[in-house]
Amino acid sequence: MIHFSHVYKTYSGSVHALKNVDLNIDKGEFVFITGPSGAGKTTLFKMLSAYDRPSSGSVNVAGFDLGRISAEEVSIFRRRIGVIFQDFKLLKDQTIFENVALPLLVRGDRPNQVSRRVADILEHVGLSNKANQRPEFISGGEQQRTAIARALIHQPGVLIADEPTGNLDPNLSEEIMDLLERVCAQGTTVFVATHDLEMVKRRKKRTIKINNGIIVGDSK
Ligand SMILES: Nc1ncnc2c1ncn2[C@@H]1O[C@H](COP(=O)(O)OP(=O)(O)OP(=O)(O)O)[C@@H](O)[C@H]1O
Ligand SMILES: [Mg+2]
Repeated sequence: MIHFSHVYKTYSGSVHALKNVDLNIDKGEFVFITGPSGAGKTTLFKMLSAYDRPSSGSVNVAGFDLGRISAEEVSIFRRRIGVIFQDFKLLKDQTIFENVALPLLVRGDRPNQVSRRVADILEHVGLSNKANQRPEFISGGEQQRTAIARALIHQPGVLIADEPTGNLDPNLSEEIMDLLERVCAQGTTVFVATHDLEMVKRRKKRTIKINNGIIVGDSK
């Protein structure tokens, strides 16, 4: 499902954010990625989501060769994945409901179907009462849950989550992780970056460690 081969990413000449990364993740796997700040986790996720391209090496996700993909193919590819960005990337001038509905509207679902699904997932992440609010008027944790709902709404084959519980209290973090595990159990490949090592330990999933752009560990 996800294949990295000899991937390097170098920013502005001298910052080597990824160095010779080889990685294989099967369909339906649940994988954590951990490592210190600046290790390369977000860079890895940018490669995975076709948000940026590797400097060299190949990245293949769900059959798409992301180093060579065209702009039109990127929009097709994005319909297959869900991404929770570290900084949420919510649309400021749209309500929570509209932000979450976006992936369904992009693929042309019928409005009444969209309404039903959005209401359902907002209920799931505890945001039903904020549906008509805009992102700047809700809390950081609520914005994070909006980003999670938007990433899951179109039932993607791959979910990439960059610190999905970074702004949540412990109870809510556990609930969100339970939700991600359920999504995985239904067949989605889930890849989560986190600093929460206690949570990683409790969940007993495959865990990839990255340091200085190099994969230094990969174990269950
Ligand atoms: N657009 C960019 N231009 C230049 N350097 C960058 C850019 N983005 C990231 N970097 C550098 O690449 C390295 C890896 O950054 P990255 O954001 O992938 O780390 P991270 O593991 O996600 O860290 P954190 O846990 O703080 O989110 C860092 O040295 C960072 O400063
Ligand atoms: Mg990061």
